[in-house]
Amino acid sequence: SSRTNVAIIGMGTVGAGVARLLIDHGDRTARHAGKTIWLSKAVVRDLNKPRGIDLPAGVLTDSIDEVLNDPEIDVVVQLIGGLSPARETMLRAMEAGKDIVTANKALLAEHGGELFTRARELGRSIAFEAAVAGGVPIVANISQCLSANQILSMEGILNGTSNFIVSQMDEKGAGYEQTVKLAQELGYAEADPAMDVDGTDAAQKLAILSHLAFGATVDWRDIPRSGIDRLDPVDLQYASQLGYRIKLLAAARMIDGELELSVAPTLVRKGTPMAEVRDAYNAIRVVGDAVGPVFYHGLGAGQMPTASAVVADIIDTAVGRTPITFQTLEYFSKDRPARTVQRD
Ligand code: NAP
Ligand code: HSE
Repeated sequence: SSRTNVAIIGMGTVGAGVARLLIDHGDRTARHAGKTIWLSKAVVRDLNKPRGIDLPAGVLTDSIDEVLNDPEIDVVVQLIGGLSPARETMLRAMEAGKDIVTANKALLAEHGGELFTRARELGRSIAFEAAVAGGVPIVANISQCLSANQILSMEGILNGTSNFIVSQMDEKGAGYEQTVKLAQELGYAEADPAMDVDGTDAAQKLAILSHLAFGATVDWRDIPRSGIDRLDPVDLQYASQLGYRIKLLAAARMIDGELELSVAPTLVRKGTPMAEVRDAYNAIRVVGDAVGPVFYHGLGAGQMPTASAVVADIIDTAVGRTPITFQTLEYFSKDRPARTVQRD
Protein backbone atom coordinates (compact mmCIF):
# COMPACT_ATOMS: atom_id res chain seq x y z
CA SER A 1 0.00 0.00 0.00
CA SER A 2 1.14 3.59 -0.51
CA ARG A 3 0.49 4.38 3.14
CA THR A 4 1.50 2.77 6.45
CA ASN A 5 -0.92 3.46 9.28
CA VAL A 6 0.59 3.71 12.73
CA ALA A 7 -0.93 3.60 16.20
CA ILE A 8 0.96 4.68 19.30
CA ILE A 9 -0.03 3.00 22.56
CA GLY A 10 1.21 5.05 25.52
CA MET A 11 1.54 8.80 25.00
CA GLY A 12 4.01 9.72 27.73
CA THR A 13 7.43 11.28 27.20
CA VAL A 14 8.43 9.08 24.25
CA GLY A 15 4.97 8.65 22.71
CA ALA A 16 4.44 12.41 22.48
CA GLY A 17 7.86 12.82 20.84
CA VAL A 18 7.07 10.12 18.28
CA ALA A 19 3.73 11.76 17.51
CA ARG A 20 5.47 15.10 17.07
CA LEU A 21 7.97 13.70 14.55
CA LEU A 22 5.27 11.85 12.61
CA ILE A 23 2.98 14.88 12.46
CA ASP A 24 5.56 17.62 11.89
CA HIS A 25 7.85 15.72 9.54
CA GLY A 26 5.58 13.66 7.31
CA ASP A 27 7.63 14.79 4.31
CA ARG A 28 10.81 13.44 5.86
CA THR A 29 9.35 10.07 6.86
CA ALA A 30 7.69 9.70 3.44
CA ARG A 31 10.96 10.44 1.68
CA HIS A 32 12.77 7.70 3.61
CA ALA A 33 9.96 5.16 3.49
CA GLY A 34 8.90 5.87 -0.08
CA LYS A 35 5.34 6.16 1.18
CA THR A 36 3.24 8.08 3.68
CA ILE A 37 3.64 7.16 7.35
CA TRP A 38 0.33 8.13 8.89
CA LEU A 39 -0.45 8.53 12.60
CA SER A 40 -3.94 7.01 12.83
CA LYS A 41 -4.42 6.56 16.57
CA ALA A 42 -2.77 7.40 19.88
CA VAL A 43 -3.97 5.48 22.92
CA VAL A 44 -3.92 7.04 26.39
CA ARG A 45 -5.50 6.17 29.71
CA ASP A 46 -6.73 9.65 30.49
CA LEU A 47 -8.16 11.60 27.55
CA ASN A 48 -8.05 14.87 29.49
CA LYS A 49 -4.38 14.80 30.53
CA PRO A 50 -2.30 17.45 28.70
CA ARG A 51 0.14 15.80 26.26
CA GLY A 52 1.97 18.92 25.08
CA ILE A 53 0.99 18.23 21.49
CA ASP A 54 -1.97 19.03 19.25
CA LEU A 55 -3.23 15.81 17.73
CA PRO A 56 -5.55 15.88 14.73
CA ALA A 57 -9.21 15.22 15.55
CA GLY A 58 -10.06 11.56 16.00
CA VAL A 59 -6.50 10.40 16.73
CA LEU A 60 -6.68 10.30 20.53
CA THR A 61 -8.53 7.38 22.09
CA ASP A 62 -8.61 5.57 25.41
CA SER A 63 -9.42 2.23 23.82
CA ILE A 64 -6.64 -0.22 22.97
CA ASP A 65 -9.28 -2.43 21.35
CA GLU A 66 -10.10 0.31 18.89
CA VAL A 67 -6.52 -0.03 17.59
CA LEU A 68 -6.34 -3.80 17.73
CA ASN A 69 -9.67 -4.22 15.94
CA ASP A 70 -8.82 -1.76 13.19
CA PRO A 71 -7.60 -3.77 10.16
CA GLU A 72 -6.23 -0.58 8.59
CA ILE A 73 -3.54 -0.18 11.26
CA ASP A 74 -0.27 -1.77 10.18
CA VAL A 75 2.20 -0.86 12.93
CA VAL A 76 1.67 -0.65 16.68
CA VAL A 77 4.20 1.45 18.56
CA GLN A 78 4.15 0.03 22.06
CA LEU A 79 5.26 2.75 24.48
CA ILE A 80 3.61 1.71 27.70
CA GLY A 81 6.34 1.07 30.26
CA GLY A 82 6.56 -1.95 32.57
CA LEU A 83 5.40 -5.50 31.95
CA SER A 84 1.62 -5.42 32.11
CA PRO A 85 -0.43 -4.54 30.12
CA ALA A 86 2.52 -3.95 27.74
CA ARG A 87 3.10 -7.70 27.20
CA GLU A 88 -0.54 -8.58 26.60
CA THR A 89 -0.98 -5.59 24.30
CA MET A 90 2.01 -6.60 22.21
CA LEU A 91 0.86 -10.22 21.92
CA ARG A 92 -2.67 -9.18 21.00
CA ALA A 93 -1.41 -6.65 18.46
CA MET A 94 0.75 -9.30 16.73
CA GLU A 95 -2.17 -11.72 16.76
CA ALA A 96 -4.21 -8.97 15.09
CA GLY A 97 -1.60 -8.86 12.29
CA LYS A 98 0.32 -5.77 13.36
CA ASP A 99 4.08 -5.29 13.38
CA ILE A 100 5.58 -3.86 16.55
CA VAL A 101 7.99 -1.08 17.40
CA THR A 102 8.86 -0.67 21.06
CA ALA A 103 11.25 1.11 23.43
CA ASN A 104 10.40 -1.11 26.38
CA LYS A 105 13.59 -2.87 27.41
CA ALA A 106 12.17 -4.16 30.69
CA LEU A 107 9.56 -6.06 28.69
CA LEU A 108 12.06 -7.46 26.19
CA ALA A 109 14.55 -8.44 28.88
CA GLU A 110 11.79 -10.25 30.77
CA HIS A 111 9.61 -11.72 28.03
CA GLY A 112 11.76 -11.44 24.90
CA GLY A 113 11.82 -15.20 24.34
CA GLU A 114 8.04 -15.49 24.34
CA LEU A 115 7.47 -12.33 22.30
CA PHE A 116 9.98 -13.14 19.57
CA THR A 117 8.82 -16.74 19.33
CA ARG A 118 5.26 -15.53 18.88
CA ALA A 119 6.43 -12.96 16.31
CA ARG A 120 8.08 -15.75 14.33
CA GLU A 121 4.97 -17.94 14.51
CA LEU A 122 2.82 -15.06 13.33
CA GLY A 123 5.26 -13.70 10.74
CA ARG A 124 5.43 -10.33 12.48
CA SER A 125 8.41 -8.09 13.27
CA ILE A 126 9.47 -6.45 16.53
CA ALA A 127 11.84 -3.50 16.19
CA PHE A 128 13.46 -2.12 19.34
CA GLU A 129 16.33 0.26 18.57
CA ALA A 130 15.09 2.71 21.22
CA ALA A 131 15.14 0.06 23.94
CA VAL A 132 18.92 0.38 24.37
CA ALA A 133 20.77 3.70 24.63
CA GLY A 134 17.90 5.89 23.38
CA GLY A 135 19.01 7.79 20.29
CA VAL A 136 22.33 5.95 19.90
CA PRO A 137 21.88 3.35 17.12
CA ILE A 138 23.64 0.56 18.98
CA VAL A 139 21.11 -2.21 18.25
CA ALA A 140 21.40 -1.78 14.47
CA ASN A 141 25.16 -1.38 14.70
CA ILE A 142 25.75 -4.54 16.67
CA SER A 143 23.23 -6.61 14.72
CA GLN A 144 23.94 -5.33 11.24
CA CYS A 145 26.92 -3.01 10.78
CA LEU A 146 29.31 -5.14 12.87
CA SER A 147 27.89 -8.50 11.84
CA ALA A 148 31.16 -9.56 10.18
CA ASN A 149 32.80 -9.56 13.60
CA GLN A 150 33.00 -11.77 16.62
CA ILE A 151 32.33 -9.20 19.29
CA LEU A 152 35.00 -9.54 21.96
CA SER A 153 33.75 -7.00 24.47
CA MET A 154 31.28 -4.21 25.09
CA GLU A 155 31.56 -1.67 27.85
CA GLY A 156 29.56 1.43 28.40
CA ILE A 157 27.20 3.83 30.06
CA LEU A 158 23.71 2.55 29.32
CA ASN A 159 21.60 4.48 31.80
CA GLY A 160 21.15 8.18 31.09
CA THR A 161 19.49 8.96 34.41
CA SER A 162 22.39 7.59 36.46
CA ASN A 163 24.92 9.40 34.34
CA PHE A 164 22.93 12.62 34.63
CA ILE A 165 22.77 12.30 38.41
CA VAL A 166 26.46 11.50 38.84
CA SER A 167 27.45 14.33 36.45
CA GLN A 168 25.33 16.87 38.31
CA MET A 169 26.67 15.74 41.68
CA ASP A 170 30.25 15.63 40.46
CA GLU A 171 30.39 18.86 38.48
CA LYS A 172 27.81 21.04 40.20
CA GLY A 173 27.81 19.64 43.72
CA ALA A 174 24.07 18.98 43.32
CA GLY A 175 22.22 16.89 45.91
CA TYR A 176 21.19 13.31 45.09
CA GLU A 177 17.45 13.56 45.79
CA GLN A 178 16.98 16.87 43.98
CA THR A 179 18.85 15.50 40.93
CA VAL A 180 16.70 12.37 40.79
CA LYS A 181 13.68 14.68 40.74
CA LEU A 182 15.19 16.75 37.96
CA ALA A 183 15.88 13.60 35.90
CA GLN A 184 12.20 12.71 36.29
CA GLU A 185 11.09 16.19 35.22
CA LEU A 186 13.35 16.05 32.16
CA GLY A 187 11.76 12.74 31.11
CA TYR A 188 14.93 10.66 31.53
CA ALA A 189 13.88 8.44 34.41
CA GLU A 190 11.73 5.31 34.40
CA ALA A 191 8.28 5.53 35.98
CA ASP A 192 10.00 3.99 39.02
CA PRO A 193 13.44 5.69 39.10
CA ALA A 194 14.73 2.95 41.42
CA MET A 195 15.16 0.88 38.22
CA ASP A 196 17.61 3.50 36.94
CA VAL A 197 19.68 4.13 40.04
CA ASP A 198 20.00 0.52 41.26
CA GLY A 199 21.46 -0.74 37.97
CA THR A 200 18.38 -2.73 36.86
CA ASP A 201 17.79 -0.73 33.68
CA ALA A 202 21.45 -1.01 32.64
CA ALA A 203 21.42 -4.77 33.36
CA GLN A 204 18.29 -5.21 31.23
CA LYS A 205 19.93 -3.34 28.36
CA LEU A 206 23.14 -5.32 28.76
CA ALA A 207 21.15 -8.58 28.61
CA ILE A 208 19.55 -7.44 25.32
CA LEU A 209 22.88 -6.37 23.83
CA SER A 210 24.42 -9.67 24.90
CA HIS A 211 21.76 -11.55 22.92
CA LEU A 212 22.66 -9.52 19.87
CA ALA A 213 26.42 -9.49 20.25
CA PHE A 214 27.15 -12.93 21.65
CA GLY A 215 24.00 -14.96 21.07
CA ALA A 216 23.82 -15.42 24.83
CA THR A 217 20.65 -16.15 26.73
CA VAL A 218 21.01 -14.00 29.80
CA ASP A 219 18.59 -13.47 32.63
CA TRP A 220 19.27 -9.86 33.63
CA ARG A 221 18.79 -10.83 37.27
CA ASP A 222 21.90 -13.00 37.03
CA ILE A 223 24.08 -10.03 36.12
CA PRO A 224 25.86 -8.85 39.27
CA ARG A 225 24.85 -5.26 39.61
CA SER A 226 25.18 -2.33 41.90
CA GLY A 227 23.90 1.14 41.15
CA ILE A 228 24.72 4.74 41.91
CA ASP A 229 22.17 4.79 44.72
CA ARG A 230 24.86 3.63 47.10
CA LEU A 231 27.39 6.26 46.12
CA ASP A 232 28.31 8.91 48.63
CA PRO A 233 29.20 12.41 47.34
CA VAL A 234 32.50 11.94 49.11
CA ASP A 235 33.27 8.94 46.83
CA LEU A 236 33.02 11.29 43.86
CA GLN A 237 35.27 13.84 45.55
CA TYR A 238 37.99 11.31 46.41
CA ALA A 239 37.81 9.83 42.92
CA SER A 240 38.18 13.32 41.45
CA GLN A 241 41.19 14.13 43.62
CA LEU A 242 42.85 10.95 42.35
CA GLY A 243 42.12 11.89 38.71
CA TYR A 244 39.05 9.71 38.16
CA ARG A 245 35.33 10.02 37.62
CA ILE A 246 32.84 7.40 38.74
CA LYS A 247 30.60 6.04 35.98
CA LEU A 248 27.94 3.35 36.08
CA LEU A 249 29.53 0.94 33.61
CA ALA A 250 27.85 -2.08 32.08
CA ALA A 251 30.37 -4.55 30.75
CA ALA A 252 30.34 -7.78 28.79
CA ARG A 253 33.41 -9.59 27.61
CA MET A 254 34.25 -12.98 26.20
CA ILE A 255 36.98 -14.68 28.18
CA ASP A 256 38.02 -18.20 27.15
CA GLY A 257 34.68 -18.75 25.45
CA GLU A 258 32.71 -17.60 28.46
CA LEU A 259 30.81 -14.37 28.79
CA GLU A 260 31.44 -12.19 31.80
CA LEU A 261 28.83 -9.59 32.62
CA SER A 262 28.56 -6.85 35.22
CA VAL A 263 26.97 -3.52 36.06
CA ALA A 264 28.78 -1.39 38.62
CA PRO A 265 29.97 2.12 39.47
CA THR A 266 33.52 2.13 38.17
CA LEU A 267 36.51 4.45 38.37
CA VAL A 268 37.28 5.88 34.94
CA ARG A 269 40.36 8.03 34.39
CA LYS A 270 39.56 11.69 33.63
CA GLY A 271 40.29 12.74 30.08
CA THR A 272 39.38 9.36 28.56
CA PRO A 273 36.30 9.39 26.28
CA MET A 274 34.20 7.36 28.73
CA ALA A 275 34.99 9.68 31.65
CA GLU A 276 33.91 12.71 29.67
CA VAL A 277 30.42 11.36 28.89
CA ARG A 278 28.13 13.80 30.66
CA ASP A 279 24.49 14.36 31.55
CA ALA A 280 22.01 11.93 29.97
CA TYR A 281 24.51 10.86 27.33
CA ASN A 282 25.31 7.18 26.87
CA ALA A 283 28.46 5.68 25.40
CA ILE A 284 29.44 2.17 24.37
CA ARG A 285 32.85 0.90 23.40
CA VAL A 286 32.54 -2.25 21.34
CA VAL A 287 35.54 -4.33 20.32
CA GLY A 288 35.16 -6.62 17.32
CA ASP A 289 37.81 -9.06 16.12
CA ALA A 290 37.93 -7.52 12.65
CA VAL A 291 37.00 -3.90 13.20
CA GLY A 292 38.84 -3.36 16.48
CA PRO A 293 37.39 -0.82 18.93
CA VAL A 294 34.41 1.34 17.96
CA PHE A 295 33.02 4.05 20.21
CA TYR A 296 29.38 5.21 20.18
CA HIS A 297 28.24 8.32 22.00
CA GLY A 298 24.94 10.18 22.11
CA LEU A 299 21.84 10.95 24.13
CA GLY A 300 20.59 7.79 25.77
CA ALA A 301 17.39 9.18 27.27
CA GLY A 302 14.91 11.97 26.71
CA GLN A 303 11.96 12.64 24.47
CA MET A 304 13.32 13.50 21.04
CA PRO A 305 16.49 11.34 21.01
CA THR A 306 14.38 8.32 21.90
CA ALA A 307 11.67 9.29 19.43
CA SER A 308 14.38 9.53 16.76
CA ALA A 309 15.15 5.82 17.20
CA VAL A 310 11.47 4.83 17.38
CA VAL A 311 10.57 6.67 14.18
CA ALA A 312 13.53 5.15 12.32
CA ASP A 313 12.19 1.75 13.39
CA ILE A 314 8.71 2.70 12.14
CA ILE A 315 10.18 3.59 8.74
CA ASP A 316 12.20 0.34 8.63
CA THR A 317 9.09 -1.62 9.55
CA ALA A 318 7.04 0.16 6.89
CA VAL A 319 9.52 -0.90 4.22
CA GLY A 320 10.05 -4.40 5.66
CA ARG A 321 13.67 -3.89 6.61
CA THR A 322 13.88 -5.31 10.12
CA PRO A 323 15.95 -8.46 9.59
CA ILE A 324 17.34 -8.15 13.07
CA THR A 325 14.11 -9.63 14.34
CA PHE A 326 14.86 -12.97 12.80
CA GLN A 327 18.47 -12.95 13.85
CA THR A 328 17.32 -12.19 17.34
CA LEU A 329 14.84 -15.01 17.23
CA GLU A 330 17.59 -17.48 16.60
CA TYR A 331 19.62 -16.04 19.41
CA PHE A 332 16.77 -16.18 21.86
CA SER A 333 16.22 -19.84 21.09
CA LYS A 334 19.84 -20.82 21.74
CA ASP A 335 21.26 -21.60 25.11
CA ARG A 336 24.75 -20.18 25.20
CA PRO A 337 26.90 -19.96 28.30
CA ALA A 338 27.04 -16.73 30.23
CA ARG A 339 29.14 -16.37 33.31
CA THR A 340 28.47 -13.42 35.54
CA VAL A 341 31.20 -11.94 37.64
CA GLN A 342 31.51 -9.26 40.23
CA ARG A 343 33.93 -6.51 39.25
CA ASP A 344 36.36 -5.16 41.79
P1 NAP B 1 5.91 7.51 30.47
O1 NAP B 1 6.19 8.95 30.27
O2 NAP B 1 5.61 7.01 31.81
O3 NAP B 1 4.73 7.13 29.48
C1 NAP B 1 4.09 5.90 29.49
C2 NAP B 1 2.70 6.14 28.97
O4 NAP B 1 1.98 4.91 28.91
C3 NAP B 1 1.89 7.08 29.84
O5 NAP B 1 1.42 8.11 29.02
C4 NAP B 1 0.76 6.22 30.34
O6 NAP B 1 -0.47 6.87 30.44
C5 NAP B 1 0.66 5.20 29.26
N1 NAP B 1 -0.03 4.00 29.70
C6 NAP B 1 0.24 3.21 30.75
N2 NAP B 1 -0.67 2.21 30.80
C7 NAP B 1 -1.52 2.39 29.77
C8 NAP B 1 -2.65 1.72 29.29
N3 NAP B 1 -3.11 0.64 29.92
N4 NAP B 1 -3.29 2.19 28.20
C9 NAP B 1 -2.84 3.28 27.56
N5 NAP B 1 -1.75 3.97 27.96
C10 NAP B 1 -1.11 3.53 29.06
O7 NAP B 1 7.11 6.64 29.91
P2 NAP B 1 8.14 7.00 28.75
O8 NAP B 1 9.29 7.70 29.35
O9 NAP B 1 7.45 7.60 27.60
O10 NAP B 1 8.66 5.54 28.39
C11 NAP B 1 7.90 4.66 27.60
C12 NAP B 1 8.74 3.41 27.34
O11 NAP B 1 9.94 3.80 26.66
C13 NAP B 1 9.19 2.71 28.61
O12 NAP B 1 9.21 1.33 28.38
C14 NAP B 1 10.61 3.24 28.82
O13 NAP B 1 11.43 2.33 29.52
C15 NAP B 1 11.08 3.38 27.40
N6 NAP B 1 12.14 4.36 27.17
C16 NAP B 1 12.04 5.61 27.69
C17 NAP B 1 13.05 6.54 27.42
C18 NAP B 1 13.02 7.92 27.98
O14 NAP B 1 14.02 8.64 27.84
N7 NAP B 1 11.93 8.37 28.59
C19 NAP B 1 14.13 6.18 26.62
C20 NAP B 1 14.18 4.90 26.07
C21 NAP B 1 13.18 4.00 26.36
P3 NAP B 1 -0.74 8.13 31.40
O15 NAP B 1 -0.10 9.27 30.66
O16 NAP B 1 -2.20 8.22 31.42
O17 NAP B 1 -0.10 7.83 32.70
N1 HSE C 1 15.47 5.60 32.07
C1 HSE C 1 16.30 5.29 30.95
C2 HSE C 1 17.65 5.97 31.14
C3 HSE C 1 15.65 5.75 29.69
O1 HSE C 1 17.75 6.87 31.97
O2 HSE C 1 18.60 5.58 30.48
C4 HSE C 1 16.40 5.30 28.45
O3 HSE C 1 16.32 3.92 28.29
